[in-house]
Amino acid sequence: MGQPNQMERSRTGRHLTYSTVQIANSEIHQGHLVLINREHPIRQTSSSDRLLPLSTIPAIHTLHDGMRLDRTCLRNLANLLEACQGMNEVIAVSGYRTKIEQEEIYESSLADNGAEYTARYVALPDRSEHQTGLAIDVGKRNKDVDFIAPSFPDSGVYKRFKQLAARYGFVQRYKEGKESLTRISCEPWHFRYLGYPHSEIMERNDWCLEEYIDQLEAYPYEKNHLIFEDERSFAEIYYVAAETGTSTIIPLEECDRFLLSGNNRNGFIVTAFLDKGSRVHV
Ligand code: DAL
Ligand code: ZN
Repeated sequence: MGQPNQMERSRTGRHLTYSTVQIANSEIHQGHLVLINREHPIRQTSSSDRLLPLSTIPAIHTLHDGMRLDRTCLRNLANLLEACQGMNEVIAVSGYRTKIEQEEIYESSLADNGAEYTARYVALPDRSEHQTGLAIDVGKRNKDVDFIAPSFPDSGVYKRFKQLAARYGFVQRYKEGKESLTRISCEPWHFRYLGYPHSEIMERNDWCLEEYIDQLEAYPYEKNHLIFEDERSFAEIYYVAAETGTSTIIPLEECDRFLLSGNNRNGFIVTAFLDKGSRVHV
């Protein structure tokens, strides 16, 4: 990503300083908001420097050694487990998977569980969010943990985990009632990191990721932005369609910090944060 260029432009009757950044269109397939499903496969593998072993946080119990996650996802998972006091009762069952691992899981589930069960609970290779490092399966820490469908009760620390998940940027990705959109059955154990406030907006509106990515296209830079405000921050969220050619110029609102993500479909989502109290706006 290049350095932003400072520019002046009049918008909604006010002069705001804003900037632009040029981004390669291949970046559509990267970022915390990528939509991965049957119709939108993985197009770029995660760079291994974004992945961290869960062993860097020894308090987290894992089903197997060597489990890795995207570093931001892992930091937020640790904070979420602390917040729900679930470190000793929750086990991380499955994190980042390579394409080869997803193929092996798919094939062994077909052999052990049959085609119907596998279609409901195992994504095809290159259609699994686990290949991004942004998905984590969590289960009840028991002697026997089912790798494909771990138990994750709707009570106690597990319920608190679910209730606090959005605060830490996670959503339960496959919910009951959304199967026709996600094409996966309800999975109470599979959490996807998208970042706050996206997780909170999705929860409040009961949108699954397929619906949220559709909704965001109604908020292009030139029109009204999706505004989110809480006690800590103010965020403007907007969509920028990829330009034809190899790169896209992304306009940036004046902000304290921004996050840019591809949607793995046709464009980019900008999340521009203003930290409350850091400056006065006119
Ligand atoms: N269990 C989810 C759908 C996966 O295999 O990615
Ligand atoms: Zn999963």
